[in-house]
Amino acid sequence: EKIFVGVDLGGTTIKVGICDEGGNLLQTYEGPTGTEHGSEVVLENIAQYVRKLVAESPYEWEQIAGIGAGIAGFMDIPQGFIKLSPNLGWRNVPVKQILEEKLGKTVKIDNDANVAALGEAWSGAGKDVPIVVCYTLGTGVGGGIIFNKHVVQGFTGMGGELGHMMIVPDIEAIECGCGKKGCLETVSSATGIIRMAKEAVERGDHTSLALVPNIMAKDVFDAAKSGDEVALRIIDRAALYIGKSMALVSVIVNPQRYIIGGGVSKAGDILFEAIRKYFHMFTQEAATEGVDIVPAILGNDAGIVGAAGLNLHG
Ligand code: BGC
Ligand code: NA
Ligand code: ZN
Repeated sequence: EKIFVGVDLGGTTIKVGICDEGGNLLQTYEGPTGTEHGSEVVLENIAQYVRKLVAESPYEWEQIAGIGAGIAGFMDIPQGFIKLSPNLGWRNVPVKQILEEKLGKTVKIDNDANVAALGEAWSGAGKDVPIVVCYTLGTGVGGGIIFNKHVVQGFTGMGGELGHMMIVPDIEAIECGCGKKGCLETVSSATGIIRMAKEAVERGDHTSLALVPNIMAKDVFDAAKSGDEVALRIIDRAALYIGKSMALVSVIVNPQRYIIGGGVSKAGDILFEAIRKYFHMFTQEAATEGVDIVPAILGNDAGIVGAAGLNLHG
């Protein structure tokens, strides 16, 4: 029996797991990333966690048919590099080569949101749907475009970097972590939601959020659920730009299903209803018919599963 190992490299935690050929997650292991110690230590941690994962499992090292890793940031997939990861503080790290040397196996790398999208398409909310586009709304906004269970990586891996669609009008645009202005991520990420909430409080808007000492995205969702107008307006704005970006995506790739995951998707119906409203408002009817917008179902496992899947569907 062949097994596939997936690595989900997050800013605080590295999660690793074993999948079978059907995308079923069989065993997992996780440990701290050690971001503060730099890329060499982080990559050594990955290698150690993978060895422990397999050692503690009923499988043999020889059964590993491939290893995959998903990493947040701009990739150069053909070169096996991570070009720029503001999250990890990395620039031009030859991840593929280093991991292959440490592990003695073929390692495929891809963007974190691309692998999460692949995970959902392989064995999650996009199962049996040929063309899906996934948004991961977390600290940043990630995206992934999947055609027939293959990631659309593009020329270097920038395919599906939906969080950096320049979509906010100039006069309202603020700077993104990527250095450009007006990216979707500046509004529709947890970071964007928290910023809008803090701005509202500073302006003296009438909101229960004024009583929250250190506002997190979840506080904004909770306030919105109890009818707080300011919180509702913030979520509506986050949804507006997701919906607008979907209108663009729809006339480029015309996916049949949008899958939304990440911490912000936990806002639930309030967010999804608003996204659907704006998607229909901005998108040609011919591109919305039969198209649905659904929550991700694999949760935190999507990254591991998709990374493992890179070896079958990369
Ligand atoms: C990065 C993407 C990443 C996303 C989610 C963005 O800021 O540019 O590469 O996929 O965050 O982690
Ligand atoms: Na992506
Ligand atoms: Zn950006």
